[in-house]
Amino acid sequence: YEAQLDLSDIEKGTYPYYMLKEIDDQPTVMRRISQEYTNTLGDAVIDEKIIEKITDSDRIYIVACGTSYNAGWVGKALLERMTHIPVEVHLSSEFGYNMPLLSEKPFFIFLSQSGETADSRQVLVQTNELGLPSLTLTNVAGSTLSREADYTLLLHAGPEIAVASTKAYTAQIAVLAVLAKAVGDNKGNQSSLDFDIAHELSVIAAVMETIIDEKMVISQLVEDYLSTTRNAFYIGRGVDYYVSMEASLKLKEISYIQAEGFAAGELKHGTIALIEEGTPVFGVITDQKTAAHTRGNLKEVESRGAHNFVIALASLAKVTDQLIIPDVYPLLSPLVSIIPTQLIAYFATLQRGYDVDKPRNLAKSVTVE
Ligand code: AGP
Repeated sequence: YEAQLDLSDIEKGTYPYYMLKEIDDQPTVMRRISQEYTNTLGDAVIDEKIIEKITDSDRIYIVACGTSYNAGWVGKALLERMTHIPVEVHLSSEFGYNMPLLSEKPFFIFLSQSGETADSRQVLVQTNELGLPSLTLTNVAGSTLSREADYTLLLHAGPEIAVASTKAYTAQIAVLAVLAKAVGDNKGNQSSLDFDIAHELSVIAAVMETIIDEKMVISQLVEDYLSTTRNAFYIGRGVDYYVSMEASLKLKEISYIQAEGFAAGELKHGTIALIEEGTPVFGVITDQKTAAHTRGNLKEVESRGAHNFVIALASLAKVTDQLIIPDVYPLLSPLVSIIPTQLIAYFATLQRGYDVDKPRNLAKSVTVE
């Protein structure tokens, strides 16, 4: 796998920061994942043994940290929709102490860009001791979590150098979507059979490109919304909430703005007390089932002084929305709604004069517990 690396993968080239190069890489990564994991008929191509093991399981446990944990929640939505198997998502550092295995035939999926995260590996050591089946999705062939799990699916995202993970997040979701499709088809589930993964990933790549091409619009919006603030909120429901979790992690870990990703419906149960005059609140709206409610929550915070910024899919958008994204397959919308939030974090950090690639206190791979 290392042999396939070409130098352009590990050099910034004309980019000022690796993070911007890696954000721009994402459409290419989507197309590479499609090539690696689908055939000319558009079917998912995954190791049969993995499909059988998951098909035979009665509960899937996704275990990860940070951005990978956030990707795991989108994976839960995809896997449950396609496979009809219940999925739990757990923080590695929390799950290891008392693994509440509530099923006869669990299957473990470890998400780890580096494949070296100690918190995640500690859980894998335990699942191996218990003789439980495991799969690692990682960007690094030969990494510890890859070697020690029963199975591995590579992200094919190319080296991710910036500490803030971007293309590994979207690559994990894309590979989880392929896995969900492969198992769902194997079970003959209509929701999966109707899902043309190869076509949808090509649409995703094209929509990613349209957003990336508009990056200077986002830079200007960031100046208007974030130049002086100390805090910010991302809110959404369902997969838009999961995207809000990742969007806020991106913003806080490189710009040091105290950002929170929140379930829109939960604001009124306490956190809305933090909304002051001018507090930036970003609303993510990609699901027609929840759009009206999230817009209601945005009105609530706006009436308390919030400065709203709406990211919406075109079919759900209003002319007043700041960022409108062409429509994509609903459950894959995180692959595109995350792009503006990655760029928001990038420009907010630039405008504050911090090091985008090497934020304070952080390491690319946390190999200690
Ligand atoms: C992501 O932006 C962070 N740098 C961090 O949360 C990271 O996702 C986490 O440490 C997990 O790393 P892994 O995917 O390599 O296991």
